[in-house]
Amino acid sequence: MMIAFSILGALLALLSHTQAQGYTNASEVPYYGLSPPVYPTPEGTGGTDPAWQAAYSRARDLISQMTLEEKVNVTRGHTGQCVGNTGTVSHLGIPPLCFSDAPDGIRGQEFVSSFPAQIMVGASFDRDLMYRYGKALGEEYRGKGINSALLPVAGPLGRMARGGRNWEGFGADPYLSGAGMEGVVRGLQDQGVIGTAKHFLLNEQEFRRNPGELGESMSSNADDRTIHELYAFPFMDALRAGVASVMCSYQRVNNSYSCQNSKLLNGILKTELGFQGFVVSDWGGQHSGVASANAGLDLVMPDGGYWGDNMTEAVNNGSVADSRLNDMAARIVAAYFYLDQDQGYPETGVYTYDEQHEIIDVRSDHATLIREIGGAGTVLVKNTNNALPLKKPRYLDVFGYDAKLPASPWANPSRFGGGYEVNFGWNTLNGTLVTGGGSGSNTPTYVVAPFHALQDRVLKDGGMMRWDFDEVNPLVYANAEACIVFINAYASESFDRTTLQDDFSDELVHNVATNCSNTIVVMHDAGIRVVDSWIDHPNITAVVYAMLPGQESGNAIVDVLYGNVSPSGRLPFTVAKKESDYGHLLNSTISFAAFPQQNFTEGLYIDYRYFDKHNITPRYEFGYGLSYSTFAYGNLEVIATGGDTSEYPPRVPNVTQGGNAALWEVLYNVSVSVTNTGEVAAHEVPQLYLQVPNAPEWQLRGFDRVFLRCNETKTVVFPLTRRDLSIWDVVKQDWKLQRGDFGVMVGASSRDVRQVATIRISYND
Ligand SMILES: *[C@@H]1O[C@H](CO)[C@@H](O)[C@H](O)[C@H]1NC(C)=O
Ligand SMILES: *[C@@H]1O[C@H](CO)[C@@H](O)[C@H](O)[C@H]1NC(C)=O
Ligand SMILES: *[C@@H]1O[C@H](CO)[C@@H](O)[C@H](O)[C@H]1NC(C)=O
Ligand SMILES: *[C@@H]1O[C@H](CO)[C@@H](O)[C@H](O)[C@H]1NC(C)=O
Ligand SMILES: *[C@@H]1O[C@H](CO)[C@@H](O)[C@H](O)[C@H]1NC(C)=O
Ligand SMILES: *[C@@H]1O[C@H](CO)[C@@H](O)[C@H](O)[C@H]1NC(C)=O
Ligand SMILES: *[C@@H]1O[C@H](CO)[C@@H](O)[C@H](O)[C@H]1NC(C)=O
Ligand SMILES: *[C@@H]1O[C@H](CO)[C@@H](O)[C@H](O)[C@H]1NC(C)=O
Ligand SMILES: *[C@@H]1O[C@H](CO)[C@@H](O)[C@H](O)[C@H]1NC(C)=O
Ligand SMILES: *[C@@H]1O[C@H](CO)[C@@H](O)[C@H](O)[C@H]1NC(C)=O
Ligand SMILES: *[C@@H]1O[C@H](CO)[C@@H](O)[C@H](O)[C@H]1NC(C)=O
Ligand SMILES: *[C@@H]1O[C@H](CO)[C@@H](O)[C@H](O)[C@H]1NC(C)=O
Repeated sequence: MMIAFSILGALLALLSHTQAQGYTNASEVPYYGLSPPVYPTPEGTGGTDPAWQAAYSRARDLISQMTLEEKVNVTRGHTGQCVGNTGTVSHLGIPPLCFSDAPDGIRGQEFVSSFPAQIMVGASFDRDLMYRYGKALGEEYRGKGINSALLPVAGPLGRMARGGRNWEGFGADPYLSGAGMEGVVRGLQDQGVIGTAKHFLLNEQEFRRNPGELGESMSSNADDRTIHELYAFPFMDALRAGVASVMCSYQRVNNSYSCQNSKLLNGILKTELGFQGFVVSDWGGQHSGVASANAGLDLVMPDGGYWGDNMTEAVNNGSVADSRLNDMAARIVAAYFYLDQDQGYPETGVYTYDEQHEIIDVRSDHATLIREIGGAGTVLVKNTNNALPLKKPRYLDVFGYDAKLPASPWANPSRFGGGYEVNFGWNTLNGTLVTGGGSGSNTPTYVVAPFHALQDRVLKDGGMMRWDFDEVNPLVYANAEACIVFINAYASESFDRTTLQDDFSDELVHNVATNCSNTIVVMHDAGIRVVDSWIDHPNITAVVYAMLPGQESGNAIVDVLYGNVSPSGRLPFTVAKKESDYGHLLNSTISFAAFPQQNFTEGLYIDYRYFDKHNITPRYEFGYGLSYSTFAYGNLEVIATGGDTSEYPPRVPNVTQGGNAALWEVLYNVSVSVTNTGEVAAHEVPQLYLQVPNAPEWQLRGFDRVFLRCNETKTVVFPLTRRDLSIWDVVKQDWKLQRGDFGVMVGASSRDVRQVATIRISYND
């Protein structure tokens, strides 16, 4: 959300640019209008879920007592206390619903926690942490009386390596992202907060996401199979977990704006995936009145947009059916009841920084969880000469501005904004990076900088430090036992990154390594960071991707550097040797056309699927990460559950949220034993990759994070569902179980194979 723009200005600019490009009529533009029409919007009924059904019966009862104006009011935003506020119907006891950012902590408020970004939660490969993250966020949102939290994120998924918002999601794989969506939605909604799965759909870049001076927004053009198997896949998991709201995205899909794309909203979301909740526009993402209502949008934000009085008129003149408006309002009110928000939900306590108010401290003991995720999501990629864990060094050198507190990271304080961003620039933070910028940014109430946490620890060991946060060629003290260099890479909503490296940091690392034979590099990056300009330097003994850890940054990195926590984080994206290895998936489109097109020609082959297909050796593959221990894998077994292996799942009415329940039937269990063969207790993250016939070579279809004491063995079981073993059949419009031989690979990353097996499937009908 955010970034206001002038619709009129955009339209004028659009007209002139359309003419400049030689088009005088939108329907002449290639690809225009290829999103098939799907009407009308299916009405929410509660589907097969008794909790939804009960919520609908109460909602429908209230809707029947509302005037036309009141129903219209419920479906629109108003300026108010929160970044989004719906209309009130006081005589029926319906309060304004309060909406707030951000995915990693409440934005712009006091006495709230700064959590790790979702990318770090993804890097933990830990379902339990995903749930607890959602739960802790839910406790904070509830504590502030915020009805709807604008999280979690599965779009962007990470198609473009330089995408400005990739760090807001769980990583560039639909299965990993789906696990994150599921866990976070359950955790959040267990606290009674309405979750918002966003951004639906194909929101894979920032450049030209909105209309502007150059013309319309870019159009993400993806084929039906790619939409299902890659981009909608994690949303299915959020829906199955009961998510009560979905946010449509800014850009166009097949040239139709996402918030008025009937194929996406009426077709995929509300018919095929049986969505019972409401679709909310991204802020300012509505581009038509009647068309968006009929295409399946239910709530416009942040103001009346093209609705309000226009909607009243449209219903009166029949352009929007009365039943559609009733459905829009019912979906919103039903979500409120579905989460039991009428049962003693706290008063909204959202304020501006200069407004007198009582303290509402919602942080509880969340710092402990934040520190735990910070340790679990830290990825060690290089460790030579036993550099790590540190052995109580008595003399440490620390370099780089990422080690210290930034001067003043709270830009533009208000009740909505005021995040961890500076000057809207990249890499100008001049301090440690704990989250990215834009609406996904959070507002820390304190930050433990890496330098301070290290200093505390060194002092405990009776040691000393030398430091320099500014110099690119700092003085290296010859007697230091280790030199730790902290670097970072900023990214933000509203623009894509221009590079995956930066000269200042690369030079700094190189300069320190030239004079320090034990140089350890720690990176806090909002996404992918390439490291090849120095990674093989013999004096660089250890390298850590420490992601975006939130307020406990310093404590979390000290835990890992000193071995209180053995690293088990895994890369949730592919790190290439050079940027050009990402090919056309590096940069956003640089098209200046009035109707810019982004054709997803690579289909299913993004990130590691792309590298595998084109035989490109990455620097560090998806799923990669080292430990302080070693592990042995054994006894891979495949056990058929005896479940239904017919070609297609049984036909059922499309009323179960998340889609046909048969897609989640477990058809096989794959088990493997993992033994800690090293000298320290540690977590290991075994991963299962599957070779589905007629699909990309290897795809993640299972993972777990297990704690093992020395010599301990545990059996890990990966359940494989019908969906995991299927591909989307574009002709049948259904998931088709594949038959034949499926390769099964269990290992410590997408390329570190430890155990293999084959599953042979034949149809039972
Ligand atoms: C735009 O082009 C289409 C197809 O050529 C045509 O049917 C339509 O009338 C045109 N509209 C305008 C406003 O010229
Ligand atoms: C977009 O167009 C492609 C190619 O025509 C089609 O397969 C896909 O279903 C369309 N999707 C949407 C949402 O319009
Ligand atoms: C619509 O909601 C606003 C904001 O809560 C409220 O001030 C207004 O009275 C409502 N209008 C109607 C017609 O109920
Ligand atoms: C369910 O949804 C699919 C995909 O949109 C559609 O092809 C099918 O006809 C629907 N089935 C029923 C029974 O409505
Ligand atoms: C109604 O539509 C017009 C443009 O068609 C717009 O200027 C106005 O702001 C809309 N909204 C409301 C709440 O009337
Ligand atoms: C009905 O009202 C809507 C909203 O003002 C307007 O856009 C539309 O053109 C009207 N339709 C007719 C047939 O009058
Ligand atoms: C950070 O701020 C310090 C002190 O103002 C300055 O000397 C240094 O050059 C800055 N570093 C960067 C990378 O901007
Ligand atoms: C690095 O060491 C070289 C000699 O080995 C010395 O000339 C240079 O000044 C040192 N640089 C720093 C920044 O310490
Ligand atoms: C590694 O560091 C030592 C100083 O500790 C230095 O003498 C040596 O030249 C460095 N190696 C490289 C390749 O820079
Ligand atoms: C990426 O964009 C930059 C300009 O921002 C351009 O110089 C470069 O050639 C592009 N790289 C690729 C691989 O398209
Ligand atoms: C995208 O695909 C369409 C349809 O195949 C084609 O006409 C158009 O030129 C492509 N656009 C770009 C920018 O490649
Ligand atoms: C692990 O097993 C090895 C070999 O049997 C043994 O030497 C070692 O003491 C065991 N370690 C622990 C912590 O039990």
